[in-house]
Amino acid sequence: MITTASAILLLLGAATTSSARTFTVYNACPFTIWPAMFTDLNAGSAVPSYTTGWEAGAYTAVSFNVPDNWTAGRIWARRDCNFATNPGPNSCLDGGCNGGLVCDPHTGTGVPPASLAEWSLSTADGNDYYDVSLVDGYNLPLAITNNVGCPVANCPVDLGPNCTALKGPYDSTGFPVGCKSACDANLSGNPSNSPNCCSGQYSTPATCPSSGVQYYSYFSKQNCPNSYVYAYDESSGTALWTCPASKEADYTLTFCPPPS
Ligand SMILES: *[C@@H]1O[C@H](CO)[C@@H](O)[C@H](O)[C@H]1NC(C)=O
Ligand SMILES: *[C@@H]1O[C@H](CO)[C@@H](O)[C@H](O)[C@H]1NC(C)=O
Ligand SMILES: *[C@@H]1O[C@H](CO)[C@@H](O)[C@H](O)[C@H]1NC(C)=O
Repeated sequence: MITTASAILLLLGAATTSSARTFTVYNACPFTIWPAMFTDLNAGSAVPSYTTGWEAGAYTAVSFNVPDNWTAGRIWARRDCNFATNPGPNSCLDGGCNGGLVCDPHTGTGVPPASLAEWSLSTADGNDYYDVSLVDGYNLPLAITNNVGCPVANCPVDLGPNCTALKGPYDSTGFPVGCKSACDANLSGNPSNSPNCCSGQYSTPATCPSSGVQYYSYFSKQNCPNSYVYAYDESSGTALWTCPASKEADYTLTFCPPPS
């Protein structure tokens, strides 16, 4: 028989060993978007207790628990979706995933261009790592904030309209809902040996400097300096952010954040 006192101890034990963070995903855009979430299950098995894809009307938010050892997780949003027929990666103008509205847990990453928010919590060095990645291009402005005073990662600017060579895809009104990365756009003509992709002979930090990545300035220096823009952007010092895991930060991801 379990006494009341030992039952309480069991509950306390459970409460202290399975701590979780609260994540909030807020759509501050004046239009509907379809957020999506993916965990690289090769890196860790802990997954948030929430669906991997949902519809978010303008100015709506959801909150859910995320295990404090969530590893290699990402959240992004999809634009201009219609899941009525043949739901899958092509159901949205960008960011679509295998699965349709709810992304497949094993293969449901987003179709570029898509701005990503990425996390690995409570890593071996005692830090949370997080970033806003434009490595797969851009499709919405976004910001990662937190409740413990750690740095903001963001790309608060609409990169579509001024994107020149990499602009698109376009919605039915002709408005650009994305800006492709130079790698994904195949600007160099050989994605397997490209300074834009850090591939082939350009596959190390030393051989793939930001100066060799076409349009790096447009993405990073001119508009979104606090984003992770290409494969080896860590050296910029404002791409990958950390927060001590001991602070147990709760994170908010805002799409279309107010201009900073
Ligand atoms: C995450 O933490 C939970 C609870 O402590 C544990 O059961 C699980 O094995 C951990 N997962 C990973 C991938 O470390
Ligand atoms: C686009 O470029 C124009 C001209 O340089 C500038 O005035 C405008 O603010 C830019 N728009 C965005 C969204 O960056
Ligand atoms: C990249 O561009 C080159 C040159 O136009 C073309 O031959 C090649 O098929 C393209 N590769 C991809 C993956 O689109």
